Amino acid sequence: MIASCVLLSPPSSHRLLTQSFSHQCKQQKRWPQGSQRPSQVVAYYGLKKPPYKLDALEPYMSQRTLEVHWGGHHRNYLEGLNKQLEKSDILYGYTFDELVKATYNNGNPFPEFNDAAQVWNHDFFWESMQPGGGDMPQLGVLEQIEKDFGSFSNFREKFIEAALTLFGSGWVWLVLKREERQLKIIKTSNAICPLVWDTYHNQLDSGRCCHLAYYLDYKNDRGKYVDAFMNHLVSWNAAMARMARAEAFVNLGEPNIPVA
Ligand SMILES: [Fe+2]
Repeated sequence: MIASCVLLSPPSSHRLLTQSFSHQCKQQKRWPQGSQRPSQVVAYYGLKKPPYKLDALEPYMSQRTLEVHWGGHHRNYLEGLNKQLEKSDILYGYTFDELVKATYNNGNPFPEFNDAAQVWNHDFFWESMQPGGGDMPQLGVLEQIEKDFGSFSNFREKFIEAALTLFGSGWVWLVLKREERQLKIIKTSNAICPLVWDTYHNQLDSGRCCHLAYYLDYKNDRGKYVDAFMNHLVSWNAAMARMARAEAFVNLGEPNIPVA
């Protein structure tokens, strides 16, 4: 019964189906008046699509890579998470960001953390790229990069170096640190993301460094992949939109008070 309700209406984005499931089932009058409805809460998140077609990043990231990495690897994390969440309702009611933070449990992660964080990380990664990407950021992101790294080319060099020196599988992030009011490049391993640390306010950009991100297109040449990412894939539009959101919380300059 539960499975058929879920399968009839797969969600297209992250959300818990519990409410709509119970609403649907209520509408279908599966449980006559006075009888008890099942009390088990079924948590279910849907696979979010990248904001472009799977062949849109060709030739720098192939459709085959998207099919394997997003359609296989990322989907497996999501299905693993849903299976774990079905077991109890203790993690019901969180937004996805909150779910990642809650399951991280201040550095003593719950079993659900790995899958939850990897779903979040991969979503962030797909949204950090765009067809015709690369080039340079503009406006506030460029100004802040120049302020914190000296120049865009210095930043670029440091970001690439971080990707090339990351051991094993992980992520390279451009983040805005809350207290320092500064951009930083950081590396994380496996599922860890800056979202779980309070000192980082906002992730602006991320690059995925795992075999699946580049093996089909670049074999073992991580350097070639990272170059392609910086020159043709990275979405500075996404970073600028994230920066605009971050600036609602972090004051990056002198207050600009209009003179009457
Ligand atoms: Fe991956």
